[in-house]
Amino acid sequence: MTQGDLPRSRSDCEALDRADPLAPARAQFALPERVIYLDGHSLGPATHAALTRVERAARTEWAEGLIRSWNTAGWIDLPRSVGAKLARLIGVAAEDVIVTDSVSVNLFKLAAAALPLAKSRTVIVEASEFPTDQYIAEGLSRISGAAMMRVEADQGLAALQRTGGVLIRSIVNYRTSDILDVAASEALARESRGVIVWDLSHATGVLDLKLAADSARLATGCTYKFLNGGPGSPAFVYVQRELAERMQSPISGWFGHADPFAFDAGYAPREGVARFAAGTPGVLSLSALDAALDAFEGLALSDVAAKAKALGDLVIARGAAMGLPSISPKDASRRGGHVSLRHAHGYAVVQALIARGIIPDFRASDAMRFGVAPLYIRFVDVWDAMDQLADILETRAWDRPDFHARAKVT
Ligand SMILES: Cc1ncc(COP(=O)(O)O)c(C=O)c1O
Repeated sequence: MTQGDLPRSRSDCEALDRADPLAPARAQFALPERVIYLDGHSLGPATHAALTRVERAARTEWAEGLIRSWNTAGWIDLPRSVGAKLARLIGVAAEDVIVTDSVSVNLFKLAAAALPLAKSRTVIVEASEFPTDQYIAEGLSRISGAAMMRVEADQGLAALQRTGGVLIRSIVNYRTSDILDVAASEALARESRGVIVWDLSHATGVLDLKLAADSARLATGCTYKFLNGGPGSPAFVYVQRELAERMQSPISGWFGHADPFAFDAGYAPREGVARFAAGTPGVLSLSALDAALDAFEGLALSDVAAKAKALGDLVIARGAAMGLPSISPKDASRRGGHVSLRHAHGYAVVQALIARGIIPDFRASDAMRFGVAPLYIRFVDVWDAMDQLADILETRAWDRPDFHARAKVT
């Protein structure tokens, strides 16, 4: 069997796992026993290296090193050094990435800083976009006076062409997993003198991204999904080098200052993307992320992307056999690292799966989201999870009052 062939049995899956060039990566993850982790994707699992590193950062660097560790343990350089490590995963130069703040805050900073560069003061976002992207666009429009333009799904580029404004857009849609062509979109943006701020949250660590070659100018993305940085680990910012010098962060904090420890009264931005840092970085989270990123070392991103697509094909095929329609593209080249299957009682079905140790997630109103992270998910995992899903549907095991009760986080 090769990854392009759809496995028809568990033993086909075993054959694919034996031939998988990424198979050794799984040993780096501290996965719980008897759990198949198909979260879709909201939180990557811990790596052994990240756990060791957090322990060291807390017990040695913090508890013993105290304030000295900003210099002696390299804390002060972490936003840049972790950014440099992450840069390969998005296909840009090491010095053009910084790790700081959350995606929400970074979207605000980048879109606000992009407004003066765009032909028109318009912030564009699609109604199918992740909610925070829409909320940030609204807030930015409110305080900047820029026009707010919320358009239907897939209409963002057309609106950008019409207006030459600033479009906030995910490469991989959080619900459907649909992907957008970065190079083609950037060509359209340039023609219309508009600017795209890319949200890479569901794309990084699962697609073979080549942002520099595709002429992307501005991007941010989270690190707690496919990058496994841990709950609330800081996001990253990419700014194309020549653009950075022409941009000003609206949050001109001291960590984005050219010389923070000069304690000057006035603000002077740091060189390049580093000006988009704002306040004191979260060292424990950055340390975890730094170590977690080592799981990608030596792996070809083309292998990572190909396996995600093959695993996703299997979810779609098995789902179809159970009568579950996919809202994710069947064409794997148009899909990211998750697949969403629809079921009217999807929330309860997901709870029934979780009760059996299979952990996807759920996105309202009816999407059961299966994340297929290629570094630790095997073909047999997907096969076994789909067997359980079929059983849960056949026996209506999902139809229990406790499975219908909504938790705060889905
Ligand atoms: C596409 C997308 N953008 C942004 C976010 C949220 O980012 P943050 O909580 O870091 O602000 C998420 C979270 O899941 C997401 O999926």
